[in-house]
Amino acid sequence: MTGLLGTPDAMTPLPRVGSEIIDAIERSRLVGRGGAGFPVATKWRAVAQRSHGDAVIVVNGAEGEPQSKKDRVLMSERPHLVLDGAFIAARALRARHVILYIGERHDAARSAMLRALSARPEPERGRVTASSAPARYVAGAEAAAVHFLNEGIATPTNVPPYPFERGVGGAPTLVQNVETLAHVALLARTGHTPQTALVTLAGAVKRPGVLEVEPHTTIGDAVQRGGGATEAPRAILVGGYFGSWVEPEQAWNLELNPDSLRRNGLGLGCGVIGLLPASRCPVCETAGIMRYLAGESSAQCGPCFFGLRALADACTRVAERGSNPEDLKRLQRWAIDVRGRGACRHPDGAVMFLSSSLQVFGQEFASHRSHHVSRTA
Ligand SMILES: Cc1cc2nc3c(=O)[nH]c(=O)nc-3n(C[C@H](O)[C@H](O)[C@H](O)COP(=O)(O)O)c2cc1C
Ligand code: SF4
Repeated sequence: MTGLLGTPDAMTPLPRVGSEIIDAIERSRLVGRGGAGFPVATKWRAVAQRSHGDAVIVVNGAEGEPQSKKDRVLMSERPHLVLDGAFIAARALRARHVILYIGERHDAARSAMLRALSARPEPERGRVTASSAPARYVAGAEAAAVHFLNEGIATPTNVPPYPFERGVGGAPTLVQNVETLAHVALLARTGHTPQTALVTLAGAVKRPGVLEVEPHTTIGDAVQRGGGATEAPRAILVGGYFGSWVEPEQAWNLELNPDSLRRNGLGLGCGVIGLLPASRCPVCETAGIMRYLAGESSAQCGPCFFGLRALADACTRVAERGSNPEDLKRLQRWAIDVRGRGACRHPDGAVMFLSSSLQVFGQEFASHRSHHVSRTA
């Protein structure tokens, strides 16, 4: 396998591609790797149609998901590949400005990206600026990135207008995850359809960290590559905090590619594969993550701010005081009430996670006794 991490990071002249790369991306069926899994070609066309040589490319390296490390590793180890993807996008979409939007705490990644940038020829380097994404979960959402770059406030705004219509400085803007851009660069260099995905192994695994996996790699294979589980897992979180818990027996054979996961009602999300050890209480774990997600709401939309807080409180009551039928009913009902009622997908992601907890840990939620709950995820 060559893939992203198997390709040496070198500054080579940009492949001579223009807007026809969009057709190649479409044929490759590449989807975004920042979480939403949106088709890349559709987004590029939407910006290309509106660009009059004024489009903006935002290279999204915010990586706000606490358990994810893959974007940082990629920027640190393959910065030229990410920059190639950004410059190919700039050429195809006739952009005047490329903005590196890198998490403010991702120091090694930022240094590597800036070092690589300084080695690029002036016509490329001259159109790039760098910006630090605040270390908040929602700062990586595309509307929040645009809001931050325009006004210094990293909270999502109401859409429409979408960034592809009116984004940074009012120009049509492409916000694209760093891994997605690196796949485009490799596609342009080799003509090969992107096959691999970066995943972060987290939790009860012997060697947590980032792996590049091929489409038929199963979760079981990936965990083996990480040295195996440190103890029997109770469940596997697929896709990070906006993802879903899966029973280990089902998870081991799931292939880590967007199509296969979708067929199983799941998504690759931001690529986190988290092993919850059987020795940890899943109700307390759920309550901790829900408190974290409620605390990360940007407090602009009532259903998100109040709804997630109420859900986190109900989970915490079950965790700290034990099960009670009222809270269990409330959790089910409120999770439905909150869905689709925010300006961004933060509440949807949080209730998707919660719904999978209620399903996979139904037994534990129904018969829970009191425990102390950690206040941070
Ligand atoms: C609350 C929230 C947080 C997000 N955080 C990130 C992030 O840290 N990095 C990222 O690339 N995308 C993040 N996204 C997804 C972005 O909105 C956007 O879809 C993505 O950057 C587009 O790139 P992609 O299509 O290549 O995935 C987040 C979305 C939401 C709703
Ligand atoms: S849905 Fe939540 S996180 Fe998103 S903009 Fe509204 S309050 Fe902020």
